[in-house]
Amino acid sequence: MPSLSVIGMQWGDEGKGKVSHILSSWADWIVRFQGGNNAGHTVVFDNSQYVLHLVPSGILYPGKKCLIGNGVVIDPAALVEELDFLRKRNIEADGRLFISGNCHLIFPYHKYREAYMEKLKTRVGTTRRGIGPAYGDKYARVGIRFVDYLEDDTFKELLKRNLRGKEVFIKKFTSVTKLKDKIMKEREEILPRLKDFLADGASLLYSEEKRGKNILFEGAQGTMLDCDFGTYPFVTSSNPISGGACVGSGFPPGKIETVLGVTKAYTTRVGLGPFPTEIEGTEAEYLREKGGEYGATTGRPRRVGWLDMVQLKMAIRVNGADKMALTKIDVLDDREEIKICTAYKYRGRKITEFPLSRKMQEEAEPVYEKLPGWNKKTKGVNKVEDLPANAKKFVERIQELSGSKIALISMGRSEEETIHIEKEFAAK
Ligand code: IMP
Repeated sequence: MPSLSVIGMQWGDEGKGKVSHILSSWADWIVRFQGGNNAGHTVVFDNSQYVLHLVPSGILYPGKKCLIGNGVVIDPAALVEELDFLRKRNIEADGRLFISGNCHLIFPYHKYREAYMEKLKTRVGTTRRGIGPAYGDKYARVGIRFVDYLEDDTFKELLKRNLRGKEVFIKKFTSVTKLKDKIMKEREEILPRLKDFLADGASLLYSEEKRGKNILFEGAQGTMLDCDFGTYPFVTSSNPISGGACVGSGFPPGKIETVLGVTKAYTTRVGLGPFPTEIEGTEAEYLREKGGEYGATTGRPRRVGWLDMVQLKMAIRVNGADKMALTKIDVLDDREEIKICTAYKYRGRKITEFPLSRKMQEEAEPVYEKLPGWNKKTKGVNKVEDLPANAKKFVERIQELSGSKIALISMGRSEEETIHIEKEFAAK
């Protein structure tokens, strides 16, 4: 298993942090390839809980190397804050963290733009980290890359041009001169902290792969937030699908042998946008409370729903995820009845493919298959044979319906609360 990607199959928050951390024990390199500090990967390790936003979760394993690939957008101040957080817990990034020079950076004017846009009717319900505007600049070819930030003259010139082009937004929050001074002052403090992490990520991965090193690609967000395949426009501005790992790191397609999709036993999403299986009332409250369903980055309550097979099958298809990690199965422990959405109904018609139309996504009604609950604790179970009979049936049914093999089951935040069905997905 020389290289592997861990990909969210739903709308983010599937528990990728824990799964990536388990697999980090096998990997030599852990690579983030998209998104930014809109992500929040929660890992429980050595009895402490860590929430990482930008640094790959492999940093928590002594000796592992981590790359922030070119597809990530970095808020330099947020990165320094995260490094400080890690340092306070005796986790050093020096010599272990590498940042691709061609990563684009997030500046306060990106956050201003987003704050302004989010006030309009067209709002997306973003994390307000400036992610969308930073990717916007990248594709409009006016962005500032990490390598540009490190060069005095290049940076000054690019900043000047950007401030001029964004005056309309900036003026709603502060003056251009004040903002320029703030960015330049912050840079003086940030540069000494970040400059030594500079790397050519693609070239680094190329030589490390040649040396036989194991590389793990750690996806952030999830397939339904993918800018191309998600519930557009209520998506993020990057490509969290498995294909994004190549574009966002410079690692060639075909070399990533395994895609491990991570899916919860039910579904959640934060922010706005269609969510065909969303439920409300006491059932929703129960799942939210039991699952601790509050966004790791924003603290916002998540919307909850039953497992959506129409959506999941599409995610498996676009990612090529023939293996899955099934997480948070314990949240369903006390339910009398469990539902799986197997199709949608739209204006009297049955649909089994996730629709592209906004209208259909909004109006699709779930068709449920009902399964009996197991009414027993799954926490503490380490073997699939020891799961309650109805929990086993639930797992088997998901495999049957999805056509993807469940290789790992997670029943809580800590690593002990995991069933490793396939040994290669166990901590080494
Ligand atoms: P943005 O990524 O901040 O632009 O937000 C766009 C959408 O993606 C919003 O609905 C966010 O709530 C959602 N989102 C972004 N990052 C995450 C994540 O890590 N988990 C869950 N939802 C996310």
